[in-house]
Amino acid sequence: MNATQPSDGVLVDRYGRVARDLRVSLTDKCNLRCTYCMPAEGLPWLAGPELLGDDEIIRLIRVAVRQLGVTEVRFTGGEPLIRPGLAGIVAAVAALEPRPRISLTTNGIGLDRLAPTLRAAGLDRVNVSLDTLDPERFARLTRRPRHADVLAGLAGAAAAGLTPVKVNAVLMRGVNDDEAPALLRFALAHGYELRFIEQMPLDAQHGWDRAAMVTADEILAALVGGFALTADPTERGPAPAETWLVDGGPARVGVIASVTRPFCGDCDRTRLTADGQVRACLFATEESDLRGALRAGADDDELARRWRAAMWGKRAGHGIDDPTFLQPARPMSAIGG
Ligand code: GTP
Ligand code: 5AD
Ligand code: SF4
Repeated sequence: MNATQPSDGVLVDRYGRVARDLRVSLTDKCNLRCTYCMPAEGLPWLAGPELLGDDEIIRLIRVAVRQLGVTEVRFTGGEPLIRPGLAGIVAAVAALEPRPRISLTTNGIGLDRLAPTLRAAGLDRVNVSLDTLDPERFARLTRRPRHADVLAGLAGAAAAGLTPVKVNAVLMRGVNDDEAPALLRFALAHGYELRFIEQMPLDAQHGWDRAAMVTADEILAALVGGFALTADPTERGPAPAETWLVDGGPARVGVIASVTRPFCGDCDRTRLTADGQVRACLFATEESDLRGALRAGADDDELARRWRAAMWGKRAGHGIDDPTFLQPARPMSAIGG
């Protein structure tokens, strides 16, 4: 562990991790209401003036890329496709030097229509959430009958070249945990890269129950009957997903096992919320206010200094297993995953 924070350069923390992957939440709102994420009535959304404007977002990303060594920019939400200025923000980020890689994590609704525009603006690729292949189950799980829209969004993304298209599936016991093999067959048939995600304690309702969580071991056990999973020779690096080749490859399947196989030691992420707060970790209980500084007239050097200070304080890990673990006040939908 290092005692002294460097006064310039990249976003380094006490444990020597360097954050090069910036995740930017563009809105806390969503057009679905997934039961594992938020209540049916939605949440008290951020008010308009609290949200960063498009120019403010672009400015902060520019500071991250030009002064702090960020090389990857991921847009998240809520649901990022519902932000009106999205294509303009993507285009501005694609024009930065050095150009970062640009991706988006979305529920896929409207993506069939937006994919060509986003591709033209400079978006490189997308991850789309899809927890079930059954439209009725989808409607129960998300509380909205939009299954066909998500399938169309996936197809539109692939057709527009936003590849590799990755699919995220959260399995829940008694809800969709019988679908692992079918989801993988679906992804293989369409050329999507599927990843199963262990549910994390980030739901707005604070209903997460470790005992009920479907674990990576269970997911893999459900797959090995139908598929040959072998070690993936590509280096994992800081990626949350541990991947396997399916039936000899080149297709892959991943598991993001934040709870039973945490990967915090290799974390390379920093986060910006839609209201301009830096979060050093998904599970951080502290945030650093860049919006206030920006609106008070701080210059880029000052914003960079604050961002570095925020990341220096990053904890070693999420601490889900500690008896003192506290779920962050901000739910997943307002952090962006
Ligand atoms: P790729 O780089 O495209 O593979 O994306 P990703 O898997 O890192 O991101 P995505 O937005 O698709 O998120 C998939 C799942 O990983 C979500 O449940 C996220 O909350 C989770 N996730 C993303 N980043 C982190 C992280 O730093 N820590 C933990 N614990 N989970 C993360
Ligand atoms: N734990 C794990 N993943 C979650 N997601 C949403 N809430 C949770 C949670 N509590 C997933 C979504 C989406 C991605 C951004 O995060 O399904 O695919
Ligand atoms: Fe990084 Fe926090 Fe995620 Fe761990 S939980 S990988 S430290 S963001």
